[in-house]
Amino acid sequence: MEDTLKNNWSPVSWLEKPIQQLPEYPDKKKLDESFEELKTLPPLVTSWEIEALKEKLAQVSQRKAFLLQAGDCAESFSLTRSPKIVNMVKVLLQTSFILIHEMGIPVVRVGRMAGQYAKPRSKPFETVNGEQIHNYRGDLINSVEPNKESRIPDPQRLLEGYHKAGLTLNFVRALADEGFADLHHPEQWELDFMRNNEYYKDYEDMVRSITRAVKFIDAISDKRIANTQKVDFYTSHEALNLYYDSAQTRKVPRKPGFYNLSAHMVWIGNRTRALDEAHVEYLRGIENPIGIKLGPPFTVDESLRLIEKLNPNNEEGKIVLITRFGKTNIEEGLPDLIRAVKREGFPVVWSSDPMHGNTFSASNNYKTRNFEHILEEMKSAFAIHRAEGSYLGSVHLELTGDNVTECVGGAQGLDEAGLDLNYETFCDPRLNYEQSLEMAFLVAKEWKQSYLD
Ligand code: PEP
Ligand code: CO
Repeated sequence: MEDTLKNNWSPVSWLEKPIQQLPEYPDKKKLDESFEELKTLPPLVTSWEIEALKEKLAQVSQRKAFLLQAGDCAESFSLTRSPKIVNMVKVLLQTSFILIHEMGIPVVRVGRMAGQYAKPRSKPFETVNGEQIHNYRGDLINSVEPNKESRIPDPQRLLEGYHKAGLTLNFVRALADEGFADLHHPEQWELDFMRNNEYYKDYEDMVRSITRAVKFIDAISDKRIANTQKVDFYTSHEALNLYYDSAQTRKVPRKPGFYNLSAHMVWIGNRTRALDEAHVEYLRGIENPIGIKLGPPFTVDESLRLIEKLNPNNEEGKIVLITRFGKTNIEEGLPDLIRAVKREGFPVVWSSDPMHGNTFSASNNYKTRNFEHILEEMKSAFAIHRAEGSYLGSVHLELTGDNVTECVGGAQGLDEAGLDLNYETFCDPRLNYEQSLEMAFLVAKEWKQSYLD
């Protein structure tokens, strides 16, 4: 079965298919050179780690764990810097601790980081000073600088992306190995922002309880908690620039199949999941867990065929179905999809991305999202899954550990005028540090209501 379905697949068989969202590189010779060099460089992750993640995701699909997938919309090469990475690791760890504490089950952490450098865009070109230039497609493809030359797809960026991802991952691994000191001082988590929030007391209780638990474990063990258990951290990105992903797709000794060794998990975007096109062709051949973004426009039938094509052996922990309908479309779209997936017996991990269907332009033209809308879609997702008897085992969020002003709302009540203060994203608006912790708390609350009460 596997052999027939995987027939004619190779890491580069996608080159024979039509492709969306990846413009042609004008300099073919340079592309070839960069691609060949990238193929020779050492892997960023190992097949063992990828298999371990798949096992953990299988636990999620069995309702024994929860997956938190979160990070930047687009990472940038210029922000491969210590404070940015430390803040991201910190916010991912703290949000995961909130979930673990509140839900009482393991949380699998998958960052949108160390490779999230390529972006799909709704328009291929934009006009700047009367001139038509390529749209920015992420640092892996071209430069954000708005001039014709900088926007030409540049193959050298494939190598720079690999190096920047490697530097990021190296530092993330070191921070995670140290157990990240912040775990010992939850009382120093910056909580003042929660003071006006109706959940402040719950929040404060939780922090106190985590502090007590950390002290308790330290007291009964002769090693500090940070040293007794190293925190696991996995990486993911959208498999969009297939030159980058396929150059790092390899066979490994003593295991069948091909692994994308640039990240533990990759996902297919909502705009590139046509069944007979390049991105599906590439992804059907790799062993990594695969996320599928699903939102309008889509059909249930097409989605089933996509899952089947990407997971022909019905492997558990292989597919994370990330729905991103938008708060107004979720009621109409999600129930039928859940029923169909159940009927087919596909063992997927269900995830809710309440970000991408809820983007709008503020009156001052900033692309933004409203915390309340994000919350509304997240709550609907839990309610619908609960009503259908299925398990919503994951959320997918765009967030940052920095104090940005990109999404309106939340406990601090950021308004549209406030977006101007610190709007930094290269692409979609992210929850800032405080909004992220608040959202984690609210996710845990919904999960508990759905699966514990
Ligand atoms: C993203 O995750 O940043 C993204 C572009 O998502 P989607 O493909 O769901 O629009
Ligand atoms: Co995004």
